[in-house]
Amino acid sequence: MAVKYNDTAKTFTLQTSKSMYQMKVDKYGALLHTYFGALAGEQDFFYLIGGREHSFSGQPGDVGDDRDYSLDYYPQEYSAHGNGDFRVKALRAGKKGCVPALDLRYHSHEIYPGKYSLPGLPALFAGEDEGVQTLEITLKDVYEEFYVKLLYGIFEKAGVITRAAVLENRSKDTWEIRRAMSVNLDFLEGNLDIVHLYGKHAGERQMERRPLCHGITEISSNRGTSSHHHSPFVILCEPGASEDFGECYGAALLYSGGFQMQAELDQLDSARLVCGLSEEEFLWTLKPGESFAVPETVLAYTDKGFADLSLCLKRAYHSHLIRSPWKDKKRPVLVNNWEATYFDFNTEKLLDIARQAARLGLDMLVLDDGWFGKRDDDNSGLGDWYVNEKKLGGTLKALVDKVNDMGLKFGIWIEPEMVSEDSDLYRAHPEWALQIPGRIPNRGRNQLALDLSNREVVEYIKDCIDRIMESANIEYVKWDINRCIDNVFSAADPSLSQGAIRHRYVLGLYEVQEHLLTCWPNVLLEGCNGGGGRFDAGMLYYAPQIWCSDNTDAIERLRIHYGTSFGYPMSAVSAHVSVCPNHQNGRVTPFKTRGICAMQGAFGYELDLSSLSEEDKAEAGRQIQVYNENYELFQYGDYYRLTSPFENHSYTAWSYVAEDKSAASLSIVYTDLYANAKPVRIKWKGLLEDALYDVEGEVYSGAALMHGGMVLPQPTCNYDSYMVCIKKK
Ligand code: DGJ
Repeated sequence: MAVKYNDTAKTFTLQTSKSMYQMKVDKYGALLHTYFGALAGEQDFFYLIGGREHSFSGQPGDVGDDRDYSLDYYPQEYSAHGNGDFRVKALRAGKKGCVPALDLRYHSHEIYPGKYSLPGLPALFAGEDEGVQTLEITLKDVYEEFYVKLLYGIFEKAGVITRAAVLENRSKDTWEIRRAMSVNLDFLEGNLDIVHLYGKHAGERQMERRPLCHGITEISSNRGTSSHHHSPFVILCEPGASEDFGECYGAALLYSGGFQMQAELDQLDSARLVCGLSEEEFLWTLKPGESFAVPETVLAYTDKGFADLSLCLKRAYHSHLIRSPWKDKKRPVLVNNWEATYFDFNTEKLLDIARQAARLGLDMLVLDDGWFGKRDDDNSGLGDWYVNEKKLGGTLKALVDKVNDMGLKFGIWIEPEMVSEDSDLYRAHPEWALQIPGRIPNRGRNQLALDLSNREVVEYIKDCIDRIMESANIEYVKWDINRCIDNVFSAADPSLSQGAIRHRYVLGLYEVQEHLLTCWPNVLLEGCNGGGGRFDAGMLYYAPQIWCSDNTDAIERLRIHYGTSFGYPMSAVSAHVSVCPNHQNGRVTPFKTRGICAMQGAFGYELDLSSLSEEDKAEAGRQIQVYNENYELFQYGDYYRLTSPFENHSYTAWSYVAEDKSAASLSIVYTDLYANAKPVRIKWKGLLEDALYDVEGEVYSGAALMHGGMVLPQPTCNYDSYMVCIKKK
C-alpha cells in the first residue's frame, strides 16, 4: 500500500519506489509535516520536532499556556495566514471585508485507488490498474465553515507525489482568497541549495544554484505566462549534491500562468518551500457553496543526485502527464519557414522550400506567421484568422494539397490569444482586449492580449481554430503568444473580481487547447511563447513539444538545453538547425554542429533549404538519416548531462541511453580551441556495466566506457562537434 494511515499515531505515511512522505495530526488537530526523504519504515517522525518555547513565536488561541507549541516553528503540512505562523504561507483567505485569518485543523480523510483529477487544469493521470493511490485530507478552520481539501497522488512506481488543494466555502458568507499554493513543504534542517532556471527572451532556463540564505528566495512570474524569466520548477538539494550523488527535492508546478515559488530559511534554520499561483493582483471571490482548485505540483525526491531526479520526472511525465499520441510516435522532422522568410514569402517560395525538404527526406513543412489577415509585419492582423489568399495565391487547402502531394505533412502557426489594434477583430470588439478603461494600454510587439476570461472570446477562438483546421489537412499546430500580459482588466462581467481575471485567462487557454485536441486528437500541438516563455509542465499536458527558444544559435542553445533538461524531458524541447551567421547573435558555427545540437530535442530546420550549398545539403541529408535511424533513442532515451556549459568552457557533452540500455549516443560540442591541448576524455553514464558495446567497430564493456571513459577526437575548427551512436552486442 502506498498510503498508510496509523490510527493510533495519527500518521499518514506515503511511500513510492524512491521516497517516503509523512504527516501527523498532532494533539491539537494541526496537520504537521514530519518527513520527506528516503524510504525509512513506518516510524512516527514526530520525535524529530523537539518542540520548545521560542520567544516571539506565539500560540494559537485555543492551546492555552502550552508555550512549547507554536505553529511559527512546527513543520506544517499546509500553512495558512492567521494562526501565529509568520513564515511564508500556503494560503491567505478570509471572509469578505474581514482581516484574512484561518486556523486549519484536521477534519477527515479518504484513501482511494487511482488519481484525483482537477477539472479544467493539467494534472498527472493514471489508469485504475497502475497502482496509483489518492489521499484526500480535509482540514477545517477552527471557527468557520471553510475547508481545505489537500489532495495527494501517490505514484508508487514512478516515484513521484502530486499535491493539489481545493478550497471550499461551506459557510453562508462570501470569502476572498488572496494567496493560494498547492504545496507547502517544511524542512526541519534548511541547510539546502536552491537550483532554479532563470532567463530572458532568447536566453531561457539558465541553471543557477545558490545556497538558501536567511529570508525569502522567490522564483516567480507575474507576466501572465510562466515566462522566459523564471521556470515553475525548483530543486532544493543538500549542498554536496551533484549529478550522481546527494539528496534532491524537485518541485514542478503544473501551471502556465503567473506563479510563485518561495523558499524561506527561517529563524531556526528550518526551510519552507511554497508553490502556487502568483499573488500579484490575485483576488478570488468564493461565494457560499463554491470551491477553488489550486493547480497541482509534482514532487520528486532522490538521494542519487540531479541525474536521477531528472530521469524520474522525465519518466513520470511520459507515462502520466503527456497525453498526446505523438509522445509514442516518431516526431516529424520539419522545416519551418520563419527564419527562412519571416513575413516575406509567397506560394512559390514556400513550395521551393517544400520541394527541397522532400528531396532531403524531411517529413513536414510548417508555415509560420504571416499567412492570414493583413499581416506583412508584426503590427497588424492578429485576430483575423482567415487566410490571405492574395499572398498565398489561393486557398490554404490548395497550398496544403501541393505540399502533401510532395509527400510532406503540413503544419501551421497561430497566435490565437492575441489581437492587433489594426485588425478587423479589434475594430469590431475592442472590449475583447484586456486593457484598463481610461488608460492607454501597454503594448508588447504592438499587440494586445485578448480576454480569455470572457466566454465570448473563448468561443470565438474555438470557432477560428475549427475553421482553420477544417479548411485543409493540417497535422501540426504551433501555438504562439508574443507579449506579456499586463494592464489586466476584463470588460466582460463587472461583477467578477478583476483579481480573478489572470487565472480565468489561463483556464480559458486550457479550455481552448482542450477543444483543439478533442476535435483533432491526432494533431501535433507545439507550444511556443516567443520561444520558450511558456515552457512549463502544465503545457506538456496539451503539447508534447514546445519551441524552446527563439535563440537558434547552437552554442547558446547548449546552455538553454542544459538548464531545461533538469526539469523537463528533452523530447519536449523543439530545436532547429538555422542559418549562419546566426540571426540572433551573428555567430558562425559548422552545419554539422547545428545538427548535433538540434538533435538534443524534437528535430527540425528553420532556414531556406532551397538556397543551401551542396555541402550543407549533403550534411542535412546525413543528419536526417542519423535522426531517423536513432529517433527512439532521442525521443524516449534517458538524457545524461555529462558536462556543464556553465562550468566547462572548453566543451559541452551529453548522452542518450535507451531505457533498456541496448543503444546509446554521445555528443560533444567544443566551445573553445587550444593549441597543444590534452586529450578529451569523457565518461559515459547509464550503460550496463557487464554488457559489451560496439563503438564504431571497436568493442568496449559498459564498465570501461563509464569508469574509464572514451577519448574523443580533437576539434579541428571553431565550434567543432562529434556524435557517436553505440549499440549493445
Ligand atoms: C515567435 C516565435 O517564437 C517564432 O518562432 C515565430 O513563430 C515568431 N513568433 C512569429 O511571429
